[in-house]
Amino acid sequence: MDLYEYQARDLFEQYGVPVLPGIVADTPEAVRAAAEQLGGVVVVKAQVKTGGRGKAGGVKVAKTPDEAFEAAQAILGLDIKGHVVKRVMVAGGARIAQEFYFSVLLDRANRSYLSLTSVEGGMDIEQLAVEKPEALARIEVDPIEGVTLEKAREIATAADFPAELVDRVAAVFVKLYEVYDREDATLVEVNPLILDEDGNIIALDGKVSLDENAEFRHAKHALLEDKAAADPLEAEAKKLDLNYVKLDGEVGIIGNGAGLVMSTLDVVAYAGENHGGVKPANFLDIGGGASAEVMANGLGIILGDPQVKSVFVNVFGGITACDQVAKGIVGALAELGSTANKPLVVRLDGNNVAEGRRILTEAAHPLVTLAENMDQGADKAAELANAA
Ligand SMILES: Nc1ncnc2c1ncn2[C@@H]1O[C@H](COP(=O)(O)OP(=O)(O)OP(=O)(O)O)[C@@H](O)[C@H]1O
Ligand SMILES: [Mg+2]
Repeated sequence: MDLYEYQARDLFEQYGVPVLPGIVADTPEAVRAAAEQLGGVVVVKAQVKTGGRGKAGGVKVAKTPDEAFEAAQAILGLDIKGHVVKRVMVAGGARIAQEFYFSVLLDRANRSYLSLTSVEGGMDIEQLAVEKPEALARIEVDPIEGVTLEKAREIATAADFPAELVDRVAAVFVKLYEVYDREDATLVEVNPLILDEDGNIIALDGKVSLDENAEFRHAKHALLEDKAAADPLEAEAKKLDLNYVKLDGEVGIIGNGAGLVMSTLDVVAYAGENHGGVKPANFLDIGGGASAEVMANGLGIILGDPQVKSVFVNVFGGITACDQVAKGIVGALAELGSTANKPLVVRLDGNNVAEGRRILTEAAHPLVTLAENMDQGADKAAELANAA
């Protein structure tokens, strides 16, 4: 889960990372009031979960509350790479002497943590990495040892910070790493980290991504979630503990096991090329124990998607035998009653397949078609979606 800048700022503050005051507002009037409260020069900053806000006109300096009002009028409603600005943060204005870059992130390829640091901050870091790779210090961080003061000094020195700044920035790196470590983040990035004209090191911007797999030990992280921005079906699926991802197509997909579901998406997309270009409508992995309840929950979510025209249930019986899955489907259809109103193509294979097919044949539900194999099932589901 990515955080908004103001949420990252608040986290930083809790961990003692130096930040400037910030007030969130969603109308020009509230922005004027916030600017009056902060006093002096302020910066009005679009709160959207995408980069390059400054370049898109989403970050404006205001010398007076009236200027802040005007800046808010310009920024609120602005579309930044498909993200419409609904809120801004009014931040205290810094007098910047120098801009730096610091980040620590999960380095999946090397099964480790990585810190990227540069004395040349402010600019696009991707651009810096390409045009001046030598200006970006890449230092591996051992997840067990973390960023100690000694390690932080090593990072600052590798990034060519002037000697008189090394200790000061190192102290901030240690705190930023504490945010990363204790909050179970996968990214903490500050661009820019600045030196102001009074010699203070301050985090002027913040990007934090939290690891959703660690939610169970962070009750507070749920409060950071932007419920209004989340897809309503995904939010509902999450409540039911389902592994569901909404996609753009018309064929609803249910399968057991992430690998099987991924290949089902491929096969359906391929079959769709012969049937009006229909595509998978979602990813849904119901996992090993496909009980009637889990099946009903999954079907309920998929049938709640108005874009769905047909559903392909693709199950390979392993630990869960096919007869259990078949009972699940029959039970789910009974439970859903008239809300189950779209054709279902079911492919069963594996453990106890004969009994599974017998149960479905005997139930003879008018919406259910049994497929011989995965390719045929995908083709049938695509055909039905195209015909609907
Ligand atoms: N509080 C502030 N006071 C003074 N200048 C600021 C302040 N916040 C940002 N700036 C200036 O605006 C620039 C852009 O701000 P910021 O880094 O927050 O947005 P961005 O980099 O465009 O957005 P993103 O990081 O999402 O790509 C900074 O590099 C800095 O020069
Ligand atoms: Mg930035």
